[in-house]
Amino acid sequence: MVLKRTTSLPHTVIGLRGDARDTSDMTLRPQHLKEYIGQCRIKEHLLVHIAAARSRKEPLGHTLLHGPPGLGKTTLAFIMAREMEAQVRVTSGPAIEKTGDLASLLTNLQSGDVLFIDEIHRLRPQIEEVLYSAMEEYVLDIMIGKGPTARSVRLNLQPFTLVGATTKAGAMSAPLRDRFIHTFKLDFYTLPEMQAIAERAGKILSLQFEERAAHHIARSSRATPRIGNRLMRAVRDFAQVQGQMRITETEALKTLDLLGIDRDGLDATDRSILSAIVETFSGGPVGLATLAAFLSEEEETIEDVYEPYLLQQGYLQRTSKGRMALPKAYEKLGMQAPEDIQMRAFS
Ligand code: ADE
Repeated sequence: MVLKRTTSLPHTVIGLRGDARDTSDMTLRPQHLKEYIGQCRIKEHLLVHIAAARSRKEPLGHTLLHGPPGLGKTTLAFIMAREMEAQVRVTSGPAIEKTGDLASLLTNLQSGDVLFIDEIHRLRPQIEEVLYSAMEEYVLDIMIGKGPTARSVRLNLQPFTLVGATTKAGAMSAPLRDRFIHTFKLDFYTLPEMQAIAERAGKILSLQFEERAAHHIARSSRATPRIGNRLMRAVRDFAQVQGQMRITETEALKTLDLLGIDRDGLDATDRSILSAIVETFSGGPVGLATLAAFLSEEEETIEDVYEPYLLQQGYLQRTSKGRMALPKAYEKLGMQAPEDIQMRAFS
């Protein structure tokens, strides 16, 4: 069973009011800011900006959301649109192949619409250039024709809000980054927040569960709501086929074991990353390309999907020379860290 998403969207989804990436998640997504658990600072800011924009009868300022996958960037974009009583158009950086694709998206926007571009760091430079004037002045400058007869045409656009999402803010060009009015970094969720998210999912799914069951799901969710929601669904399925009406702590733990997820939320791939660095590369440093080749994983998947949580939890450290294991990685593998590595924890 795949519980985590990979890094890229399969194709463009335009004009949907939901996220076509994973329709099973949609019922669990909060629709309003007041239902959204966690990211308190972002919510406080958004409440102010939404109220101000609404009272001026203007669209919200262009907003960049960045952070690891599954933390709620898409959910927030939809909430922003809903709170502004606007429609959302959804696409992604790699799906916009030609300037014509972007032109068609932009010219079809209605006043106040939110254009959501996921993986915005993967936009091609020519496309980015077209976006600049659209963001700044709500105009579209496009070239018609080729060679000596080519001419530039300027089209007026309806005022709109661009919401860009990225797992790699650093990979975006500075001119594009600078054109966003608001930039918010989503952080991993705390355990109490994850517990509240798991309990909320359980209630929406009409499940009866012990508080300890929600606690274990929360602990094993890598501080990531998307994973928490999926684990709650998985636990429900296992309980259902065993004819259990109520999800007990034992039931939840059994399901997590079956899924190969440990009490700290690490799965088989996390453990093989740690074991490769510790055992094969003597604790590191090891470069991302070498590690990816050794594990037969994509570099991007390791970097964007697995590593952020391992870094945040103090299993790994990223240095200019590569990835290095910290003592916690040795402990996870049931080993004692050598002395020089124990010192890393303090460096
Ligand atoms: N915060 C982030 N994601 C959430 C979710 N799915 N449900 C409730 N609060 C959330």
